[in-house]
Amino acid sequence: MSMGITATVKPVVKAFFDPATNTISYVVKDPATMACAVVDSVMDIDYAAGRISHENADQIVDYIQENGLELQWVIETHVHADHLSAAPYLQSKLGGKIGIGSGITVVQDVFGKVFNEGTEFQRDGSQFDQLFEDGDSYMVGEMQAQVVHTPGHTPACMVHVMGDAAFVGDTLFMPDGGSARADFPGGDAGELYDSIQKVLSLPDETRLFMCHDYGPNGRDIQWETTVADEKAHNIHVGGGKTKEEFVQFRTKRDAELDMPKLIIPSLQVNMRAGEMPPADEEGNTFLKVPVNAL
Ligand SMILES: [Fe+2]
Repeated sequence: MSMGITATVKPVVKAFFDPATNTISYVVKDPATMACAVVDSVMDIDYAAGRISHENADQIVDYIQENGLELQWVIETHVHADHLSAAPYLQSKLGGKIGIGSGITVVQDVFGKVFNEGTEFQRDGSQFDQLFEDGDSYMVGEMQAQVVHTPGHTPACMVHVMGDAAFVGDTLFMPDGGSARADFPGGDAGELYDSIQKVLSLPDETRLFMCHDYGPNGRDIQWETTVADEKAHNIHVGGGKTKEEFVQFRTKRDAELDMPKLIIPSLQVNMRAGEMPPADEEGNTFLKVPVNAL
């Protein structure tokens, strides 16, 4: 496959770790201009209390403002099931276009049904400013970003390659973390293996930035590695593990995993590009809990 990675361009990458959801968000700055993109932002939720807030996103807003950056893109690598996106909040403060993979329409269709959404919930991805196809590219200032479709964890998963850096979403975890689950609707362990191979076909020195880290075996949280390191050491796919081995392992493992704590609010919000469902006549907003449905 051809990925026109321009490895000589080395974006400045600033990470923001959210300990509540073990998510890492990124501000990615074009080295040649003041333009930047945000990848996978987090909106805070106290689910038990029914409260959302923006402490995480405000750290990103402050960083962008203090450094005089111009936010051009607010990227979602996929529809997250474990945290809420702050994309609309960031856009309201700083501008930029919200982009996600075109597979979002499949996710909207599935979860529009699960949450019994009415016809006012559009399943055409129109809540987002840009729907990316495999191989699309876009500009962050003078830096070209490339989009690689990496289904398997979800159908809308995209890896974004910017210069020598790749934002892998939930295709890969750090080498000692392995890979993400592939058992959500539209997920597929075999597809995930093939998608991971696409990432591992990038140049060895490519910097890989994770969306999640859980500090396996008590180590400190980490989020950056390289293609060479993943190829050699990833516990699920490294060292030449075959597709058959991976699918067998992944399928068995996924059957033992609980649902993510925030899957119910996350999907309802993230399938709307990070917006809440419409308020009722009195201006109150509600999220649903389907019973015995998921
Ligand atoms: Fe995910």
